[in-house]
Amino acid sequence: MSKSIQQILEQDSLTKENIIQLLQSSGDDEKALFAKSSEIKLKYIGKNVYFRGLVEFSNICKKDCLYCGIRAGNKNVDRYDIADEEILKAAKFAYDNNYGSVVLQSGERSDKQFVDRIENLLKEIKKLSNNELGITISLGEQTKETYQRWYDAGAHRYLLRIESSNRELYEKIHPQNENHAHDTRLACLKSLQDIGYQTGTGVMVGIPFQTYEDLANDLLFMKEFDIDMVGMGPFIEHDETPLYEHRDKLMSLNDRFRLTLRMIAVLRILMKDINIASATALQAIDPLGREKALRIGANIIMPNITPTQERANYLLYQNKPCIDEGADDCTNCMEARINMADGEIGYGQWGDSKHYANRTKK
Ligand code: 5AD
Ligand code: FES
Repeated sequence: MSKSIQQILEQDSLTKENIIQLLQSSGDDEKALFAKSSEIKLKYIGKNVYFRGLVEFSNICKKDCLYCGIRAGNKNVDRYDIADEEILKAAKFAYDNNYGSVVLQSGERSDKQFVDRIENLLKEIKKLSNNELGITISLGEQTKETYQRWYDAGAHRYLLRIESSNRELYEKIHPQNENHAHDTRLACLKSLQDIGYQTGTGVMVGIPFQTYEDLANDLLFMKEFDIDMVGMGPFIEHDETPLYEHRDKLMSLNDRFRLTLRMIAVLRILMKDINIASATALQAIDPLGREKALRIGANIIMPNITPTQERANYLLYQNKPCIDEGADDCTNCMEARINMADGEIGYGQWGDSKHYANRTKK
């Protein structure tokens, strides 16, 4: 006979079957799961929520992921590349407003000009912030040498979502060529960890063909890999992408949203001391989506500080929130939202992953 959710939540460790059962829970069972993850979050992480000011500085991308709105093959996108001085201005804004950290994200490029430019930007951000701003980068797959150069220039965290730990599923949602190989993605994550980055990964929840077992395996992969930070968001179909053809296989947006919350809750139970970001895609489905994620386990939020005129062009998925707001509006709005979720903003702090400290102490 299968165990009750209550019994599972009292165990010290979770099997794959337990995880699947938790991911499928609803009603009172789901409530019990959220109560547990919320309790663990308060115990191990506390109420602090850390900001990462997000600058999506360019949507120019050489990749062609079948789900993504800014893939190279989408000719309906106005491509932009924000000037260095504007990026630095955004970083200065984050510094002046005590954000503690910034995230630089863009479409993927690995030409020399790009690599040199990022190296220079990282040094400049360190300089303008008196070495105080923490810097996370999310710039896709690169050579180990590039990762090392960027690390030496001042980046100390890297986000690279595995998208799915299941190779077959990964291959279904990417073109079949060497530019989109699961092995490369894995090798990149390993390089980042070896270099010494706080290493972040994540998956999309509710992609076509994905099963509960896939998702349970994704969580176990994160644990096995000893990852420091995770960002997981619901998959949101974009009508200018090839994957849109499979929209009939999707669960409802609301179900994808709930399932993402359960993924975050189970992950918090599995990995008590990591940083978990509350993904913007949650807010695209539910206006209070990110706050709900903070309550049940997430502790990181990434307010968008990209200069407003370009926000509408960084649409990985449709219905993206906050594309009309300026950075100041976001700060005020975030503060109100986090207070509402009973959190406290860790102003002026890096808010590093405790897991990283624990893992590297060993
Ligand atoms: N829906 C949700 N998330 C998406 N991403 C890309 N396209 C979509 C989409 N349609 C996510 C991927 C990628 C991150 C930058 O954005 O997980 O790693
Ligand atoms: Fe951007 Fe609210 S988070 S306006």
